[in-house]
Amino acid sequence: MRSAGMAIVLAGIGLAGVWPLAALAADPAPLVIKFSHVAAPQSHKSRAAEHFKALAERYTNGRVRIELYPNSQLYKDKEELEALQLGAVQMLAPSVSKFGPLGIKAFEAFDLPYIFPDYEALEKVTHGDIGRDLLGRLEAKGLIGLAYWNNGFKILSANTPLREPDDVLGLKMRIQASKVIEAQMWAMGGVPQVMAFSEAYQALSSGVVDGTENTPANMYTQKMYEVQTHATMTNHGYLGYAVISNHAFWTGLPPDIRAALERAVAETTPVANAYAGQENDDALAEMKASGRTTFHEPTEAERAAWIAALLPVHDEMAGRVGRDLIDRIYAVTGRKPH
Ligand code: LMR
Repeated sequence: MRSAGMAIVLAGIGLAGVWPLAALAADPAPLVIKFSHVAAPQSHKSRAAEHFKALAERYTNGRVRIELYPNSQLYKDKEELEALQLGAVQMLAPSVSKFGPLGIKAFEAFDLPYIFPDYEALEKVTHGDIGRDLLGRLEAKGLIGLAYWNNGFKILSANTPLREPDDVLGLKMRIQASKVIEAQMWAMGGVPQVMAFSEAYQALSSGVVDGTENTPANMYTQKMYEVQTHATMTNHGYLGYAVISNHAFWTGLPPDIRAALERAVAETTPVANAYAGQENDDALAEMKASGRTTFHEPTEAERAAWIAALLPVHDEMAGRVGRDLIDRIYAVTGRKPH
């Protein structure tokens, strides 16, 4: 059957000489960019990705179509990075804690407990030379770093109260694939269990693990609070994302398309961070209102005990992450926590 598009092309041929040849090939199929991630469809990462999609499609006048695949529906944590390297997807926004297994250990500096006292300190790192240098290291793995997007600061949860590090003793704790987070869990006395994000809820609910750490937003959107009776507002570490693409794919884009997409990413970053901040606040309020989890705010003495137990991880992991890098972060944030 002849399509409407074909009819228009044939009509154009009828006006031979009137249409430029290019018009015959008008409306080429848009370039499809598959953007895969592991967070829930209602999460701030999804909303940020939707914002990026709208801007990207507008700025490229429809020459690019962004297809979003949230919730690990295409790939889990490790697989999505491999898929990006192989070119099966074109964009991801993984937690930077997941770059260690690729061999880029320096990103695990972000996992050092209490390294960022607040968002201001964090942004001095992500928006400055250190953040740029770290993204540059992705190139050796066939990737390109486009931006940092926040999630937030992590809290601890389990089915028993966690008032001080000793309360974690012997608990199996789900973590992301980061050696620094692993060391941090050992430092608390816990038994770290690396596990994909998509498997965390099931593992908590069936008792395969006893507890975990995550941001309030992730704890809420993955329904982990339904299977964790206690949480402590330790805010002991940061969880954030790097928006990344395949280096060969990205640098091979027509320059105007690439510029438009980079503009869309850059303009999405503050929006993504605002969504994340809001969602972490809202998630905490919703979880408290649900009454399923008791949220404990550490006393000054308890906070001091957490800090004392976890700060030695900085020195312990200096060989892996890089002493120089850690010192550069201390210098930028103005804080040497030990
Ligand atoms: C996790 O695995 O806990 C997080 O990195 C998931 C995410 O993308 O926020």
